[in-house]
Amino acid sequence: MSVILGINTFHAGSSAALIIDGEPVVALAEERLNRVKYYAGFPKLSINKCLEIAGLSFADIDSVAVGRDSSANLHKKLEFALKHPTKLLNLARMRGKSKTFDDLKSLIIKECETDAAKLKFKTYNVEHHLAHTASAYFISDWDKCAGITIDGSGDFVSCLLSDCVGDEIRPLKKIFVPHSLGTLYTAVCQFIGYGKYGDEGKVMGLAPLGTDSYHDFFENMLKPTENGFELNPAYFLPFGANQGMEINDAGEMIVHRLYSDLFIKNLGEPRERHGEITRRDNDVAFGLQRVFEKYYMHLLDSLHKLVPSERISMAGGCALNSVANGKMLLETPFRETCIQPAAGDDGLALGAALYVSNSILKEGKRRVMKNSYLGDEYSDSFIKSELERYKLSYKELSREELLEATTEEIKSGNVIGWFQGKMEWGPRALGNRSILAHPGFPNMKDILNARIKHRESFRPFAPSVLRERQSELFEQNHPSPFMLHVYKIRPEWRERLSAVNHVDDTGRLQTVARDENPLYYDLIKKFESKTGIPVILNTSFNENEPIVCQPFEAIECFLRTKMDVLVIGSFFCKKDG
Ligand SMILES: [Fe+2]
Repeated sequence: MSVILGINTFHAGSSAALIIDGEPVVALAEERLNRVKYYAGFPKLSINKCLEIAGLSFADIDSVAVGRDSSANLHKKLEFALKHPTKLLNLARMRGKSKTFDDLKSLIIKECETDAAKLKFKTYNVEHHLAHTASAYFISDWDKCAGITIDGSGDFVSCLLSDCVGDEIRPLKKIFVPHSLGTLYTAVCQFIGYGKYGDEGKVMGLAPLGTDSYHDFFENMLKPTENGFELNPAYFLPFGANQGMEINDAGEMIVHRLYSDLFIKNLGEPRERHGEITRRDNDVAFGLQRVFEKYYMHLLDSLHKLVPSERISMAGGCALNSVANGKMLLETPFRETCIQPAAGDDGLALGAALYVSNSILKEGKRRVMKNSYLGDEYSDSFIKSELERYKLSYKELSREELLEATTEEIKSGNVIGWFQGKMEWGPRALGNRSILAHPGFPNMKDILNARIKHRESFRPFAPSVLRERQSELFEQNHPSPFMLHVYKIRPEWRERLSAVNHVDDTGRLQTVARDENPLYYDLIKKFESKTGIPVILNTSFNENEPIVCQPFEAIECFLRTKMDVLVIGSFFCKKDG
């Protein structure tokens, strides 16, 4: 038996993953366990949980892989330091820190309080973007494809174009910091009041409300190069070697101001975080998404020239831009995507482990990742004891009764907390830790926002659709099992899907095939049999917090909010009145 532990540590999205004989068996983000969003410290709880779920101990681990390598791209770091002598000290400090982080064995002994004498594992540092690429390519069943990873930065790189062949990832082109599409996106988000780490998705949702009022401003922000791009430094404050990011003592990501005064000169004062969203802000969001897509497609076209395949594996935080992912299938020569569901840095734990299994140890045991359910699960007896602890009245139902009762509630316009099976890996709730509702019930979006989610009214909710009905409802038929593509909704369905139809008549859909999640599939199927609509509205099970992980968090969220029903394991709980 070969046991590989992958970790992402001292980077946003701290996480751990366990691969046994080539198969990913557990993967968890630390934020779900310690409840600190995008936690960037050491993934102590998730490492312990991975071992507990797999029934293993530290002594059973053969290899530990981390998605960072401080010795990578040293020539570029040196070049940067020479150009920015004031940052030299900072860089030296970061490198000193990184070297400490690279001593994985000592870190694990210290942080996990394990007995050094029992440990037999070898350690591997996998360069950040190789780990991202591995996280996508090695979950596909392809022997060959193009690979792209785009993010803010990691190991001094913001984009990697690769040729993926057999068990190898061959890097072809790197874009080095400070040039970064991720940083550009974050800088503009920050200007319009979305400055928290991870706010980018909200601005993507805001973009279709705007118009192309600031075309030249955005065009001047960067320029294309052969196979890449360069940022215009006049638009940004010098980022430093850390691209303007820092981790505070609580393990939270802090983003320093990234945009220069040129923004204020051209666009006026920045929006305060909770200030009114004006037409200017909508238009800035539009301009950002437009220019981002332009360069996304430029990178993809460049990659296709280097690797003329119709298949592409994708990861890195920018690969979560589901709007661009939908359009790329129409605007570039690529026809099939395989995107890691944890495309952000949380995915590095799995990617680093997959890289070691496939490219270093050449285990030759690659498995296709059919779904993202790699987290923890709870037995009915445990859930029952938790319901009793909270004095909740419940009905214990058979599978069929549960599907019948839940779909009746959804049909009547009630809001359901749905907690089933193993937790999802990655930022999206995909039918196991989800809040579910009718996708076409009048005002359902407002109901959800007022009663539970308290989100900005412009942000869309997502549709989960039966895979075989997708092309009838949406204009594109490429599957989207991890909710990473946005497609146009066909005109005849827009009214019936009013709660999941965004202002530009699109939906960020999750396609559900029966072999990926039988219970969730059967639920949508039953809803379809009652209403003729093969779609359920799916949003994450949380209220301004990381997605619920354990039953008690689901119960507390149910009690705290105005959710109508909680369906947890085999148990059905409905609030009175
Ligand atoms: Fe990254």
